[in-house]
Amino acid sequence: MTTVTDTFARPLQDLRISLTDRCNFRCTYCMPRELFGSEHLFLPRRELLDFDEIERLARIAASLGVRKLRLTGGEPLLRRDIDVLIARLAAINGIDDICLTTNGSLLTEKRARELKAAGVNRVTLSLDAIDDDVFKAINDVGYPASKVLTAIDNAKAAGLTPVKVNCVIQRGVNEDQILPMVEHFRHSGVVLRFIEFMDVGTSNGWRMEEVVTAREVVETVRTRHAISRLPANVAGETANRWIFDDGAGEIGIIASVSQPFCGGCSRARLSAIGELYTCLFGVHGRDLRTPLRSGATDDELCDLLAGIWQARDDRYSERRGEETERRRGNADGKVEMSYIGG
Ligand code: GTP
Ligand code: 5AD
Ligand code: SF4
Ligand code: SF4
Repeated sequence: MTTVTDTFARPLQDLRISLTDRCNFRCTYCMPRELFGSEHLFLPRRELLDFDEIERLARIAASLGVRKLRLTGGEPLLRRDIDVLIARLAAINGIDDICLTTNGSLLTEKRARELKAAGVNRVTLSLDAIDDDVFKAINDVGYPASKVLTAIDNAKAAGLTPVKVNCVIQRGVNEDQILPMVEHFRHSGVVLRFIEFMDVGTSNGWRMEEVVTAREVVETVRTRHAISRLPANVAGETANRWIFDDGAGEIGIIASVSQPFCGGCSRARLSAIGELYTCLFGVHGRDLRTPLRSGATDDELCDLLAGIWQARDDRYSERRGEETERRRGNADGKVEMSYIGG
């Protein structure tokens, strides 16, 4: 195994693989109905990387130092036979952590057990409110929070632990859910993580005023509970970790707007059609599918991937202001989150 570093000496350690651009939710900040309605053209199946292609790229990434794979979407559980893929990924030399990010709507008790058996270590579920009405308005398909809570229980029962819950807070939408979410998940063993609303893609109409910062989240939690900062588990971690002083567990805050963490970012993202993005805020991915489908050898693919990473200089969140200015008037928009995964 070799390791490969980018222009800021950041190693490639983490590969996030989007399995589909489809989702059965229409979260207003991610796939707003006006843009992702019935006329929206999703990727046709032949465009998607097949399991052989995904496994091959993951194996090559592992040979360059990748240790962790995260399967995302859209909604990854919409991809047929995902267990078959997972078992193949879990068998790759060097991969020691396989995680899945899901909205939970398809995570039945049986499905959770199958995922665990195939080799998923843990899952992260998205839940932006504990109140059914607030949550239904956000997912825009009338899906109740109570059903996501059942999916969380299914994940725990199957041992897909520690289960994490991602909660994106938007001002004027769900900041009143911070404390109810905290009360619900204290003492549960589930790690609740609040995410600052980010300017990913171009369709969510992001405005800085809508961002509830990590500082505000901490102040809100502290109106009820004493919490203390924990050190990072691993370098380049996305979440600031906090612990309840009374032993009720841990929460995290992903402050990519107010406290960017590009300095330790070791994450590459693979879109469902095989484009490699070296930043969540990328405009263009690098096409790996064409060489894959035109007979490139493993060595050639490995050199290609290593070369892309070595040339990487992304640090969008640290330069948000300048980047936004630089890109103004550019016809090309940033890639959507539902396309590249979180
Ligand atoms: P753990 O392995 O459990 O630490 O998970 P993770 O934080 O790597 O992954 P997860 O998918 O749970 O990430 C949570 C959220 O953080 C994502 O959905 C994104 O919203 C955000 N996030 C993750 N990686 C990045 C990143 O590289 N840059 C930015 N700006 N945000 C990120
Ligand atoms: N800002 C912050 N988080 C987002 N997510 C999707 N879009 C955004 C955004 N604009 C979150 C989802 C999910 C994870 C994959 O990313 O809610 O939890
Ligand atoms: Fe919502 Fe996640 Fe689906 Fe986006 S991919 S619409 S955040 S459930
Ligand atoms: Fe990494 Fe880009 Fe996120 Fe910075 S903005 S942490 S470089 S993905």
